[in-house]
Amino acid sequence: MSDDDTAETAATSENLVELAKRRGYFFQSSGAYGGVGGFYTFGPQGAALKGNVEDAWRDRFAVAEGNMEIDAPTIMPEPVFEASGHLDGFDDMLVECPECGESHRADHVVEDETEYEDAEGLPIPEVEEVIAKYELVCPSCGAGLAGQAVETFNLMFETNIGPGDSDPGYLRPETAQGIFVEFPRLKEYARNQLPFGVTQIGRAYRNEISPRRSIIRTREFTQAELEYFIDPETDEPDLESVADVEVTLYPASEQNEEGGEEIETTIGAAVEDGTLDPWIAYYLGVAREWYAALGVDMDRFRYRQHLAGERSHYASDCWDAEAELDGNWIELAGFSDRGAYDLSKHDEYSDDRFTIFRQYDEPKTVERAVVDPDMSYLGPEFGGAAGDVVDELEDLAARDRSAFEGDSVEIDLEGETHEIPVEKTGFAVEEQTEAGEHIVPHVIEPSFGVDRLVYTVLHHAYREDEVDGEERTYLELEPEVAPTFVGVFPLQSDDALETEANEIVDDLRAAGLSVTYDDSGNIGRRYRRQDEVGTPFCVTVDFETIENEATTVTVRERDTTEQKRLPVEDLAETLAAIRAGDLSFDEL
Ligand code: GLY
Repeated sequence: MSDDDTAETAATSENLVELAKRRGYFFQSSGAYGGVGGFYTFGPQGAALKGNVEDAWRDRFAVAEGNMEIDAPTIMPEPVFEASGHLDGFDDMLVECPECGESHRADHVVEDETEYEDAEGLPIPEVEEVIAKYELVCPSCGAGLAGQAVETFNLMFETNIGPGDSDPGYLRPETAQGIFVEFPRLKEYARNQLPFGVTQIGRAYRNEISPRRSIIRTREFTQAELEYFIDPETDEPDLESVADVEVTLYPASEQNEEGGEEIETTIGAAVEDGTLDPWIAYYLGVAREWYAALGVDMDRFRYRQHLAGERSHYASDCWDAEAELDGNWIELAGFSDRGAYDLSKHDEYSDDRFTIFRQYDEPKTVERAVVDPDMSYLGPEFGGAAGDVVDELEDLAARDRSAFEGDSVEIDLEGETHEIPVEKTGFAVEEQTEAGEHIVPHVIEPSFGVDRLVYTVLHHAYREDEVDGEERTYLELEPEVAPTFVGVFPLQSDDALETEANEIVDDLRAAGLSVTYDDSGNIGRRYRRQDEVGTPFCVTVDFETIENEATTVTVRERDTTEQKRLPVEDLAETLAAIRAGDLSFDEL
Protein backbone atom coordinates (compact mmCIF):
# COMPACT_ATOMS: atom_id res chain seq x y z
CA MET A 1 0.00 0.00 0.00
CA SER A 2 1.09 3.53 -0.66
CA ASP A 3 1.74 5.75 2.30
CA ASP A 4 0.58 9.11 0.95
CA ASP A 5 2.98 11.00 3.23
CA THR A 6 5.93 9.51 1.43
CA ALA A 7 4.67 10.43 -2.06
CA GLU A 8 6.97 13.03 -3.56
CA THR A 9 6.29 15.83 -5.94
CA ALA A 10 9.13 14.74 -8.12
CA ALA A 11 8.37 16.27 -11.49
CA THR A 12 11.07 17.73 -13.59
CA SER A 13 10.23 18.96 -17.04
CA GLU A 14 12.34 16.13 -18.42
CA ASN A 15 10.40 13.30 -16.79
CA LEU A 16 7.07 15.05 -17.31
CA VAL A 17 7.69 15.54 -21.05
CA GLU A 18 8.72 11.88 -21.33
CA LEU A 19 5.55 10.73 -19.56
CA ALA A 20 3.43 13.14 -21.62
CA LYS A 21 4.67 11.63 -24.87
CA ARG A 22 4.51 8.00 -23.73
CA ARG A 23 1.01 8.26 -22.29
CA GLY A 24 -0.58 10.56 -24.89
CA TYR A 25 -0.68 13.92 -23.15
CA PHE A 26 1.29 15.98 -25.68
CA PHE A 27 4.16 15.68 -28.14
CA GLN A 28 5.83 17.75 -30.85
CA SER A 29 3.72 17.88 -34.03
CA SER A 30 4.62 16.59 -37.49
CA GLY A 31 7.23 14.21 -36.08
CA ALA A 32 7.11 12.14 -39.28
CA TYR A 33 8.68 15.14 -41.02
CA GLY A 34 11.21 15.92 -38.33
CA GLY A 35 8.91 18.04 -36.17
CA VAL A 36 8.77 21.81 -36.11
CA GLY A 37 9.65 24.01 -33.16
CA GLY A 38 6.80 25.56 -31.24
CA PHE A 39 3.96 23.33 -32.46
CA TYR A 40 2.50 20.58 -30.28
CA THR A 41 -0.28 18.05 -30.59
CA PHE A 42 -2.35 17.14 -27.57
CA GLY A 43 -2.86 13.38 -27.58
CA PRO A 44 -6.01 11.63 -26.30
CA GLN A 45 -5.22 12.27 -22.62
CA GLY A 46 -4.00 15.82 -23.21
CA ALA A 47 -6.96 16.81 -25.37
CA ALA A 48 -9.34 15.51 -22.67
CA LEU A 49 -7.49 17.32 -19.88
CA LYS A 50 -7.33 20.54 -21.91
CA GLY A 51 -11.05 20.24 -22.70
CA ASN A 52 -11.80 19.83 -18.98
CA VAL A 53 -9.71 22.91 -18.15
CA GLU A 54 -11.54 24.93 -20.81
CA ASP A 55 -14.92 23.75 -19.50
CA ALA A 56 -13.93 24.70 -15.96
CA TRP A 57 -12.80 28.15 -17.18
CA ARG A 58 -16.05 28.64 -19.10
CA ASP A 59 -18.10 27.65 -16.03
CA ARG A 60 -16.27 30.14 -13.81
CA PHE A 61 -15.46 33.12 -16.04
CA ALA A 62 -18.37 33.06 -18.50
CA VAL A 63 -21.34 31.27 -16.92
CA ALA A 64 -20.88 32.05 -13.21
CA GLU A 65 -20.00 35.70 -13.94
CA GLY A 66 -22.89 36.16 -16.38
CA ASN A 67 -20.60 37.03 -19.28
CA MET A 68 -21.22 36.37 -22.99
CA GLU A 69 -19.01 33.96 -24.93
CA ILE A 70 -18.20 34.46 -28.61
CA ASP A 71 -16.18 32.57 -31.20
CA ALA A 72 -14.44 34.84 -33.75
CA PRO A 73 -12.16 33.98 -36.71
CA THR A 74 -8.46 33.47 -36.10
CA ILE A 75 -7.45 35.41 -39.26
CA MET A 76 -8.16 39.13 -39.29
CA PRO A 77 -7.42 41.84 -41.87
CA GLU A 78 -4.46 44.19 -41.60
CA PRO A 79 -6.40 47.34 -40.58
CA VAL A 80 -7.42 45.62 -37.32
CA PHE A 81 -3.78 45.31 -36.32
CA GLU A 82 -2.87 48.78 -37.58
CA ALA A 83 -5.48 50.09 -35.17
CA SER A 84 -4.59 47.76 -32.28
CA GLY A 85 -0.91 48.70 -32.46
CA HIS A 86 0.26 45.12 -33.09
CA LEU A 87 1.63 45.94 -36.53
CA ASP A 88 3.99 48.54 -35.09
CA GLY A 89 4.50 47.46 -31.52
CA PHE A 90 4.24 43.68 -31.21
CA ASP A 91 7.95 42.98 -31.51
CA ASP A 92 10.63 40.98 -29.77
CA MET A 93 14.36 41.63 -29.91
CA LEU A 94 16.26 39.25 -32.14
CA VAL A 95 19.97 38.51 -32.23
CA GLU A 96 21.42 36.07 -34.73
CA CYS A 97 24.49 33.95 -34.04
CA PRO A 98 27.29 34.72 -36.55
CA GLU A 99 28.53 31.11 -36.35
CA CYS A 100 25.53 28.76 -36.36
CA GLY A 101 22.93 31.20 -37.68
CA GLU A 102 20.49 30.39 -34.86
CA SER A 103 18.18 33.27 -33.85
CA HIS A 104 17.66 34.08 -30.17
CA ARG A 105 15.64 36.52 -28.15
CA ALA A 106 18.24 39.08 -27.21
CA ASP A 107 16.43 40.02 -23.97
CA HIS A 108 16.35 36.35 -22.89
CA VAL A 109 20.07 35.95 -23.61
CA VAL A 110 20.69 38.98 -21.39
CA GLU A 111 18.31 37.91 -18.60
CA ASP A 112 19.62 34.32 -18.54
CA GLU A 113 23.27 35.34 -18.18
CA THR A 114 23.28 38.63 -16.26
CA GLU A 115 21.54 40.20 -13.28
CA TYR A 116 19.13 42.10 -15.59
CA GLU A 117 15.53 41.05 -14.89
CA ASP A 118 13.69 43.37 -17.27
CA ALA A 119 15.81 43.40 -20.42
CA GLU A 120 12.66 43.55 -22.57
CA GLY A 121 12.26 47.13 -21.39
CA LEU A 122 15.75 48.23 -22.43
CA PRO A 123 16.38 50.21 -25.63
CA ILE A 124 18.07 48.17 -28.37
CA PRO A 125 21.45 50.00 -28.24
CA GLU A 126 21.65 49.24 -24.52
CA VAL A 127 20.94 45.54 -25.11
CA GLU A 128 23.75 45.50 -27.70
CA GLU A 129 26.05 47.16 -25.16
CA VAL A 130 25.17 44.63 -22.44
CA ILE A 131 25.81 41.73 -24.84
CA ALA A 132 29.24 43.17 -25.64
CA LYS A 133 30.11 44.13 -22.05
CA TYR A 134 29.29 40.69 -20.60
CA GLU A 135 30.71 38.89 -23.66
CA LEU A 136 27.48 36.93 -23.99
CA VAL A 137 27.49 33.88 -26.22
CA CYS A 138 25.09 31.96 -28.43
CA PRO A 139 23.07 29.56 -26.22
CA SER A 140 23.20 26.97 -29.04
CA CYS A 141 26.87 26.87 -30.08
CA GLY A 142 28.75 29.12 -27.65
CA ALA A 143 30.03 31.61 -30.27
CA GLY A 144 30.36 35.23 -29.07
CA LEU A 145 27.44 37.54 -29.85
CA ALA A 146 29.25 40.83 -29.19
CA GLY A 147 28.99 43.19 -32.15
CA GLN A 148 25.94 41.43 -33.59
CA ALA A 149 23.05 43.77 -34.42
CA VAL A 150 19.93 43.38 -32.29
CA GLU A 151 16.82 43.84 -34.41
CA THR A 152 13.10 44.09 -33.79
CA PHE A 153 11.04 41.15 -35.05
CA ASN A 154 7.25 41.34 -35.39
CA LEU A 155 5.67 38.24 -33.90
CA MET A 156 2.57 38.10 -36.07
CA PHE A 157 2.19 35.43 -38.77
CA GLU A 158 1.23 37.16 -42.01
CA THR A 159 -0.95 35.60 -44.70
CA ASN A 160 -2.93 36.70 -47.76
CA ILE A 161 -6.69 36.74 -47.79
CA GLY A 162 -7.76 35.40 -51.17
CA PRO A 163 -5.45 35.05 -54.18
CA GLY A 164 -2.68 37.56 -54.73
CA ASP A 165 -1.05 39.65 -52.07
CA SER A 166 -3.21 42.76 -52.17
CA ASP A 167 -5.23 41.84 -49.09
CA PRO A 168 -2.89 40.99 -46.24
CA GLY A 169 -4.22 39.32 -43.14
CA TYR A 170 -2.69 38.10 -39.90
CA LEU A 171 -3.27 35.17 -37.61
CA ARG A 172 -4.49 36.86 -34.46
CA PRO A 173 -1.80 37.22 -31.79
CA GLU A 174 -4.48 37.42 -29.09
CA THR A 175 -8.15 36.40 -29.08
CA ALA A 176 -8.96 39.79 -27.55
CA GLN A 177 -9.02 41.67 -30.87
CA GLY A 178 -11.83 39.39 -32.09
CA ILE A 179 -13.88 40.76 -29.19
CA PHE A 180 -12.87 44.43 -29.49
CA VAL A 181 -13.68 44.74 -33.21
CA GLU A 182 -17.20 43.44 -32.58
CA PHE A 183 -17.87 45.87 -29.73
CA PRO A 184 -20.44 47.96 -31.69
CA ARG A 185 -22.59 44.83 -32.05
CA LEU A 186 -21.79 43.28 -28.67
CA LYS A 187 -22.89 46.40 -26.81
CA GLU A 188 -26.32 46.00 -28.44
CA TYR A 189 -26.53 42.44 -27.10
CA ALA A 190 -25.71 43.90 -23.68
CA ARG A 191 -28.57 46.40 -24.18
CA ASN A 192 -26.06 49.27 -24.16
CA GLN A 193 -25.51 48.82 -20.43
CA LEU A 194 -22.12 48.79 -18.73
CA PRO A 195 -20.55 46.82 -17.19
CA PHE A 196 -20.58 43.69 -19.31
CA GLY A 197 -18.08 40.99 -20.15
CA VAL A 198 -17.31 38.98 -23.26
CA THR A 199 -15.22 35.81 -23.23
CA GLN A 200 -13.53 33.77 -25.87
CA ILE A 201 -11.56 30.52 -25.79
CA GLY A 202 -9.52 29.95 -28.92
CA ARG A 203 -6.24 29.73 -30.73
CA ALA A 204 -3.75 32.57 -30.99
CA TYR A 205 -0.46 32.64 -32.89
CA ARG A 206 2.95 34.18 -32.28
CA ASN A 207 5.97 33.51 -34.42
CA GLU A 208 8.26 33.15 -31.39
CA ILE A 209 11.96 33.65 -32.10
CA SER A 210 12.89 30.78 -29.84
CA PRO A 211 9.95 28.65 -28.68
CA ARG A 212 10.96 26.79 -25.56
CA ARG A 213 10.00 24.69 -22.59
CA SER A 214 7.70 22.34 -24.46
CA ILE A 215 4.09 23.58 -24.46
CA ILE A 216 4.93 26.62 -22.32
CA ARG A 217 6.13 28.86 -25.16
CA THR A 218 4.70 27.71 -28.47
CA ARG A 219 3.86 29.40 -31.76
CA GLU A 220 0.22 28.30 -31.74
CA PHE A 221 -1.59 28.16 -28.43
CA THR A 222 -4.97 28.44 -26.76
CA GLN A 223 -6.07 31.47 -24.82
CA ALA A 224 -9.10 31.89 -22.60
CA GLU A 225 -9.75 35.62 -22.38
CA LEU A 226 -12.32 37.82 -20.72
CA GLU A 227 -12.72 41.44 -21.81
CA TYR A 228 -14.74 43.22 -19.15
CA PHE A 229 -16.09 46.61 -20.26
CA ILE A 230 -16.64 49.15 -17.50
CA ASP A 231 -17.47 52.76 -16.92
CA PRO A 232 -14.38 53.71 -14.89
CA GLU A 233 -16.24 56.49 -13.09
CA THR A 234 -19.20 54.51 -11.82
CA ASP A 235 -18.65 50.73 -11.97
CA GLU A 236 -17.22 48.83 -9.02
CA PRO A 237 -16.35 45.15 -8.64
CA ASP A 238 -17.87 42.83 -6.03
CA LEU A 239 -14.80 43.00 -3.80
CA GLU A 240 -16.60 41.68 -0.76
CA SER A 241 -16.88 38.24 -2.34
CA VAL A 242 -13.08 37.92 -2.60
CA ALA A 243 -11.86 40.18 0.22
CA ASP A 244 -10.66 37.26 2.39
CA VAL A 245 -8.84 35.37 -0.35
CA GLU A 246 -5.20 34.97 0.67
CA VAL A 247 -2.64 35.84 -1.98
CA THR A 248 1.10 36.08 -2.44
CA LEU A 249 1.86 39.34 -4.25
CA TYR A 250 5.14 40.53 -5.74
CA PRO A 251 4.55 44.20 -6.58
CA ALA A 252 6.84 46.14 -8.94
CA SER A 253 7.97 48.29 -6.00
CA GLU A 254 9.35 45.18 -4.20
CA GLN A 255 11.00 43.89 -7.39
CA ASN A 256 12.74 47.23 -7.87
CA GLU A 257 13.97 47.31 -4.27
CA GLU A 258 17.23 45.66 -3.21
CA GLY A 259 16.10 42.76 -1.01
CA GLY A 260 12.45 43.33 -1.97
CA GLU A 261 10.14 40.45 -1.12
CA GLU A 262 6.84 38.83 -1.94
CA ILE A 263 4.00 39.94 0.33
CA GLU A 264 1.53 37.56 1.98
CA THR A 265 -1.78 39.39 2.22
CA THR A 266 -5.46 39.23 1.37
CA ILE A 267 -7.25 40.76 -1.59
CA GLY A 268 -9.18 43.10 0.71
CA ALA A 269 -6.05 44.34 2.50
CA ALA A 270 -4.14 44.81 -0.77
CA VAL A 271 -6.89 47.02 -2.16
CA GLU A 272 -7.11 48.95 1.09
CA ASP A 273 -3.39 49.76 1.15
CA GLY A 274 -3.33 50.66 -2.55
CA THR A 275 -1.21 47.72 -3.74
CA LEU A 276 -3.98 46.51 -6.03
CA ASP A 277 -6.47 48.32 -8.24
CA PRO A 278 -9.96 47.09 -7.22
CA TRP A 279 -10.91 45.61 -10.60
CA ILE A 280 -7.65 43.71 -11.03
CA ALA A 281 -7.91 42.64 -7.38
CA TYR A 282 -11.35 41.16 -7.95
CA TYR A 283 -10.13 38.92 -10.76
CA LEU A 284 -6.95 37.95 -8.89
CA GLY A 285 -9.18 36.74 -6.07
CA VAL A 286 -11.52 34.78 -8.35
CA ALA A 287 -8.62 33.27 -10.28
CA ARG A 288 -6.72 32.27 -7.12
CA GLU A 289 -9.66 30.13 -5.97
CA TRP A 290 -10.13 28.71 -9.46
CA TYR A 291 -6.49 27.73 -9.89
CA ALA A 292 -6.47 26.04 -6.48
CA ALA A 293 -9.57 23.99 -7.36
CA LEU A 294 -7.87 22.84 -10.54
CA GLY A 295 -4.89 21.48 -8.63
CA VAL A 296 -2.28 24.23 -9.03
CA ASP A 297 -0.10 24.05 -5.90
CA MET A 298 -0.73 27.28 -4.00
CA ASP A 299 2.68 27.03 -2.30
CA ARG A 300 4.16 27.44 -5.78
CA PHE A 301 1.89 30.22 -7.00
CA ARG A 302 2.06 34.01 -6.84
CA TYR A 303 0.91 37.19 -8.53
CA ARG A 304 3.69 39.39 -9.90
CA GLN A 305 3.17 42.93 -11.13
CA HIS A 306 4.76 43.83 -14.46
CA LEU A 307 7.69 46.21 -14.32
CA ALA A 308 7.23 49.37 -16.38
CA GLY A 309 9.31 48.14 -19.35
CA GLU A 310 7.53 44.81 -19.45
CA ARG A 311 4.00 46.03 -19.99
CA SER A 312 2.32 45.55 -23.37
CA HIS A 313 1.71 48.67 -25.44
CA TYR A 314 -1.97 48.72 -24.43
CA ALA A 315 -1.69 48.16 -20.66
CA SER A 316 -1.44 50.75 -17.91
CA ASP A 317 -1.10 48.04 -15.24
CA CYS A 318 -0.68 44.27 -15.40
CA TRP A 319 -0.28 41.44 -12.89
CA ASP A 320 0.75 37.95 -13.96
CA ALA A 321 -0.33 34.75 -12.26
CA GLU A 322 2.88 32.76 -12.00
CA ALA A 323 3.60 29.14 -11.11
CA GLU A 324 6.92 27.69 -10.07
CA LEU A 325 8.25 24.86 -12.27
CA ASP A 326 11.78 23.45 -12.00
CA GLY A 327 12.79 26.45 -9.90
CA ASN A 328 11.56 28.97 -12.50
CA TRP A 329 8.49 31.15 -12.36
CA ILE A 330 6.37 30.93 -15.49
CA GLU A 331 3.43 33.09 -16.50
CA LEU A 332 0.01 31.40 -16.39
CA ALA A 333 -2.22 34.44 -16.97
CA GLY A 334 -2.09 38.22 -17.25
CA PHE A 335 -4.56 40.58 -15.62
CA SER A 336 -4.35 43.89 -17.46
CA ASP A 337 -5.95 47.27 -17.19
CA ARG A 338 -6.24 48.13 -20.91
CA GLY A 339 -8.07 51.38 -20.15
CA ALA A 340 -9.75 52.95 -23.18
CA TYR A 341 -6.81 52.03 -25.44
CA ASP A 342 -8.35 49.39 -27.70
CA LEU A 343 -11.83 50.82 -28.15
CA SER A 344 -10.45 54.34 -28.75
CA LYS A 345 -8.13 53.00 -31.44
CA HIS A 346 -10.86 51.06 -33.23
CA ASP A 347 -13.15 54.11 -32.90
CA GLU A 348 -10.49 56.24 -34.55
CA TYR A 349 -9.45 53.81 -37.31
CA SER A 350 -12.82 52.28 -38.31
CA ASP A 351 -16.11 53.72 -39.52
CA ASP A 352 -17.99 52.39 -36.50
CA ARG A 353 -18.55 53.89 -33.05
CA PHE A 354 -16.88 52.16 -30.11
CA THR A 355 -18.58 54.26 -27.45
CA ILE A 356 -21.51 53.78 -25.12
CA PHE A 357 -24.06 56.32 -23.97
CA ARG A 358 -23.71 57.34 -20.32
CA GLN A 359 -26.98 58.81 -19.05
CA TYR A 360 -26.69 61.77 -16.65
CA ASP A 361 -28.67 61.62 -13.40
CA GLU A 362 -30.28 64.94 -14.44
CA PRO A 363 -30.26 66.41 -17.98
CA LYS A 364 -27.60 69.12 -18.34
CA THR A 365 -27.69 72.35 -20.29
CA VAL A 366 -24.38 72.85 -22.02
CA GLU A 367 -22.90 75.22 -24.57
CA ARG A 368 -21.93 73.49 -27.82
CA ALA A 369 -19.99 74.93 -30.75
CA VAL A 370 -21.70 73.76 -33.93
CA VAL A 371 -21.33 74.34 -37.68
CA ASP A 372 -23.93 74.42 -40.42
CA PRO A 373 -21.76 74.83 -43.55
CA ASP A 374 -23.01 76.49 -46.70
CA MET A 375 -22.97 73.59 -49.17
CA SER A 376 -23.63 75.94 -52.14
CA TYR A 377 -20.12 77.24 -51.36
CA LEU A 378 -18.34 73.97 -50.29
CA GLY A 379 -19.79 71.89 -53.18
CA PRO A 380 -18.29 73.85 -56.09
CA GLU A 381 -15.15 74.56 -54.08
CA PHE A 382 -14.33 70.99 -52.91
CA GLY A 383 -16.40 68.70 -55.15
CA GLY A 384 -16.47 65.09 -53.79
CA ALA A 385 -14.38 66.11 -50.75
CA ALA A 386 -17.04 68.52 -49.46
CA GLY A 387 -18.35 65.91 -46.98
CA ASP A 388 -14.84 65.48 -45.52
CA VAL A 389 -14.60 69.26 -45.13
CA VAL A 390 -17.85 69.23 -43.13
CA ASP A 391 -16.43 66.48 -40.86
CA GLU A 392 -13.23 68.48 -40.34
CA LEU A 393 -15.21 71.64 -39.50
CA GLU A 394 -17.38 69.75 -37.01
CA ASP A 395 -14.31 68.22 -35.32
CA LEU A 396 -12.55 71.58 -35.20
CA ALA A 397 -15.58 73.36 -33.71
CA ALA A 398 -15.85 70.71 -30.98
CA ARG A 399 -12.12 70.80 -30.32
CA ASP A 400 -11.15 74.47 -30.63
CA ARG A 401 -13.85 77.06 -31.02
CA SER A 402 -11.23 79.86 -30.96
CA ALA A 403 -10.22 78.75 -34.50
CA PHE A 404 -13.44 80.39 -35.71
CA GLU A 405 -12.69 83.81 -34.17
CA GLY A 406 -11.10 85.38 -37.31
CA ASP A 407 -12.48 85.90 -40.84
CA SER A 408 -11.35 82.49 -42.04
CA VAL A 409 -10.67 79.08 -40.59
CA GLU A 410 -7.94 76.60 -41.61
CA ILE A 411 -8.54 72.91 -42.07
CA ASP A 412 -6.24 70.08 -43.14
CA LEU A 413 -7.44 67.75 -45.85
CA GLU A 414 -5.15 64.90 -46.91
CA GLY A 415 -2.05 66.85 -45.93
CA GLU A 416 -3.13 70.13 -47.58
CA THR A 417 -4.26 73.22 -45.70
CA HIS A 418 -7.39 75.01 -46.91
CA GLU A 419 -8.83 78.35 -45.79
CA ILE A 420 -12.59 78.69 -45.52
CA PRO A 421 -14.43 81.94 -44.76
CA VAL A 422 -15.99 81.64 -41.31
CA GLU A 423 -19.27 83.07 -42.63
CA LYS A 424 -19.56 79.98 -44.90
CA THR A 425 -19.17 77.55 -41.96
CA GLY A 426 -22.39 78.51 -40.16
CA PHE A 427 -20.40 78.47 -36.91
CA ALA A 428 -22.46 79.18 -33.78
CA VAL A 429 -22.36 78.47 -30.05
CA GLU A 430 -25.69 77.07 -28.93
CA GLU A 431 -27.18 76.04 -25.62
CA GLN A 432 -28.25 72.41 -25.71
CA THR A 433 -29.93 70.18 -23.16
CA GLU A 434 -28.25 66.81 -23.04
CA ALA A 435 -29.41 63.60 -21.37
CA GLY A 436 -25.94 62.08 -21.30
CA GLU A 437 -22.67 61.67 -23.15
CA HIS A 438 -20.88 59.09 -25.25
CA ILE A 439 -17.91 57.55 -23.44
CA VAL A 440 -15.29 55.02 -24.43
CA PRO A 441 -15.56 52.17 -21.91
CA HIS A 442 -12.44 50.91 -20.15
CA VAL A 443 -11.39 47.27 -20.38
CA ILE A 444 -10.18 44.97 -17.62
CA GLU A 445 -8.68 41.84 -19.13
CA PRO A 446 -8.01 38.53 -17.39
CA SER A 447 -6.14 36.55 -20.08
CA PHE A 448 -5.32 32.89 -19.42
CA GLY A 449 -2.89 30.63 -21.28
CA VAL A 450 -4.53 27.21 -21.45
CA ASP A 451 -1.56 25.13 -22.65
CA ARG A 452 0.68 26.49 -19.89
CA LEU A 453 -1.96 25.71 -17.35
CA VAL A 454 -2.26 22.13 -18.60
CA TYR A 455 1.51 21.81 -18.24
CA THR A 456 1.46 23.26 -14.72
CA VAL A 457 -1.43 21.10 -13.56
CA LEU A 458 0.48 18.01 -14.74
CA HIS A 459 3.78 19.21 -13.26
CA HIS A 460 2.25 19.98 -9.87
CA ALA A 461 0.33 16.67 -9.88
CA TYR A 462 3.35 14.48 -10.67
CA ARG A 463 4.22 12.11 -7.78
CA GLU A 464 6.55 9.21 -7.16
CA ASP A 465 6.17 6.68 -4.34
CA GLU A 466 6.51 2.99 -3.61
CA VAL A 467 3.64 0.51 -3.71
CA ASP A 468 4.19 -3.06 -2.52
CA GLY A 469 7.93 -2.60 -2.84
CA GLU A 470 7.72 -1.24 -6.38
CA GLU A 471 8.34 2.30 -7.55
CA ARG A 472 5.27 4.01 -8.89
CA THR A 473 4.64 7.26 -10.79
CA TYR A 474 1.21 8.79 -10.59
CA LEU A 475 -0.56 12.03 -11.36
CA GLU A 476 -2.58 13.37 -8.46
CA LEU A 477 -5.02 15.16 -10.78
CA GLU A 478 -8.21 16.70 -9.47
CA PRO A 479 -11.24 14.67 -10.63
CA GLU A 480 -12.54 17.80 -12.38
CA VAL A 481 -9.67 17.80 -14.85
CA ALA A 482 -8.55 14.14 -14.99
CA PRO A 483 -8.96 12.89 -18.59
CA THR A 484 -10.49 9.64 -17.38
CA PHE A 485 -12.41 9.36 -14.13
CA VAL A 486 -12.56 5.60 -13.81
CA GLY A 487 -10.83 2.56 -15.31
CA VAL A 488 -12.77 -0.71 -15.40
CA PHE A 489 -10.97 -4.07 -15.55
CA PRO A 490 -12.01 -7.70 -15.63
CA LEU A 491 -9.59 -9.43 -13.22
CA GLN A 492 -8.53 -11.91 -15.88
CA SER A 493 -9.45 -13.14 -19.32
CA ASP A 494 -12.87 -14.72 -18.79
CA ASP A 495 -16.11 -14.26 -20.75
CA ALA A 496 -18.32 -13.80 -17.70
CA LEU A 497 -15.98 -11.27 -16.08
CA GLU A 498 -15.61 -9.37 -19.37
CA THR A 499 -19.37 -9.25 -19.94
CA GLU A 500 -19.98 -7.92 -16.44
CA ALA A 501 -17.15 -5.38 -16.78
CA ASN A 502 -18.55 -4.12 -20.10
CA GLU A 503 -22.00 -3.72 -18.55
CA ILE A 504 -20.46 -1.66 -15.77
CA VAL A 505 -18.65 0.49 -18.36
CA ASP A 506 -21.99 1.17 -20.08
CA ASP A 507 -23.67 2.07 -16.77
CA LEU A 508 -20.89 4.45 -15.75
CA ARG A 509 -20.83 6.16 -19.18
CA ALA A 510 -24.61 6.53 -19.04
CA ALA A 511 -24.08 8.39 -15.74
CA GLY A 512 -21.88 10.89 -17.59
CA LEU A 513 -18.53 9.59 -16.35
CA SER A 514 -15.44 9.32 -18.49
CA VAL A 515 -14.49 5.62 -18.44
CA THR A 516 -11.78 3.45 -19.94
CA TYR A 517 -11.89 -0.34 -20.23
CA ASP A 518 -8.63 -2.24 -19.99
CA ASP A 519 -8.15 -6.01 -20.14
CA SER A 520 -4.53 -6.22 -21.23
CA GLY A 521 -1.66 -7.29 -18.98
CA ASN A 522 -1.75 -8.21 -15.33
CA ILE A 523 -3.88 -6.21 -12.94
CA GLY A 524 -0.86 -4.50 -11.36
CA ARG A 525 0.25 -3.15 -14.74
CA ARG A 526 -3.24 -1.91 -15.47
CA TYR A 527 -3.33 -0.02 -12.17
CA ARG A 528 0.09 1.52 -12.96
CA ARG A 529 -1.11 2.64 -16.40
CA GLN A 530 -4.12 4.41 -14.92
CA ASP A 531 -2.02 5.88 -12.09
CA GLU A 532 0.36 7.34 -14.64
CA VAL A 533 -2.40 9.15 -16.51
CA GLY A 534 -4.02 10.28 -13.28
CA THR A 535 -7.27 8.25 -13.31
CA PRO A 536 -8.74 8.75 -9.82
CA PHE A 537 -10.50 5.35 -9.51
CA CYS A 538 -10.23 1.83 -10.86
CA VAL A 539 -12.98 -0.78 -10.66
CA THR A 540 -12.06 -4.46 -10.83
CA VAL A 541 -14.59 -7.17 -11.62
CA ASP A 542 -13.60 -10.50 -10.08
CA PHE A 543 -15.22 -13.84 -9.41
CA GLU A 544 -16.84 -12.57 -6.24
CA THR A 545 -18.69 -10.10 -8.45
CA ILE A 546 -20.31 -12.69 -10.63
CA GLU A 547 -20.72 -15.53 -8.17
CA ASN A 548 -22.57 -13.70 -5.41
CA GLU A 549 -26.14 -12.61 -5.45
CA ALA A 550 -25.46 -9.14 -4.07
CA THR A 551 -22.75 -8.40 -6.58
CA THR A 552 -19.89 -6.13 -5.57
CA VAL A 553 -16.70 -4.85 -7.20
CA THR A 554 -13.38 -3.61 -5.90
CA VAL A 555 -12.97 0.15 -6.16
CA ARG A 556 -9.39 1.38 -5.78
CA GLU A 557 -8.48 4.97 -5.06
CA ARG A 558 -5.43 6.27 -6.96
CA ASP A 559 -3.49 8.28 -4.37
CA THR A 560 -3.71 5.93 -1.37
CA THR A 561 -4.24 2.74 -3.45
CA GLU A 562 -6.86 1.87 -0.81
CA GLN A 563 -9.49 -0.59 -2.03
CA LYS A 564 -13.14 -0.96 -0.97
CA ARG A 565 -15.85 -3.38 -2.09
CA LEU A 566 -18.94 -1.55 -3.31
CA PRO A 567 -22.26 -2.86 -4.62
CA VAL A 568 -22.53 -2.75 -8.40
CA GLU A 569 -26.09 -1.55 -8.03
CA ASP A 570 -25.06 1.84 -6.58
CA LEU A 571 -21.71 2.14 -8.33
CA ALA A 572 -22.63 4.71 -10.99
CA GLU A 573 -24.49 6.88 -8.50
CA THR A 574 -21.70 6.69 -5.91
CA LEU A 575 -18.91 7.51 -8.36
CA ALA A 576 -20.94 10.32 -9.95
CA ALA A 577 -21.45 11.82 -6.47
CA ILE A 578 -17.69 11.67 -5.85
CA ARG A 579 -17.02 13.27 -9.26
CA ALA A 580 -19.47 16.06 -8.40
CA GLY A 581 -17.72 16.64 -5.07
CA ASP A 582 -20.78 15.61 -3.03
CA LEU A 583 -19.12 12.54 -1.49
CA SER A 584 -15.59 11.39 -0.70
CA PHE A 585 -14.03 7.95 -0.98
CA ASP A 586 -13.26 8.09 2.77
CA GLU A 587 -16.94 8.43 3.55
CA LEU A 588 -17.85 5.18 1.81
N1 GLY B 1 -4.63 39.52 -24.55
C1 GLY B 1 -3.43 39.56 -23.84
C2 GLY B 1 -2.34 38.80 -24.43
O1 GLY B 1 -2.55 38.13 -25.40
O2 GLY B 1 -1.23 38.81 -23.95
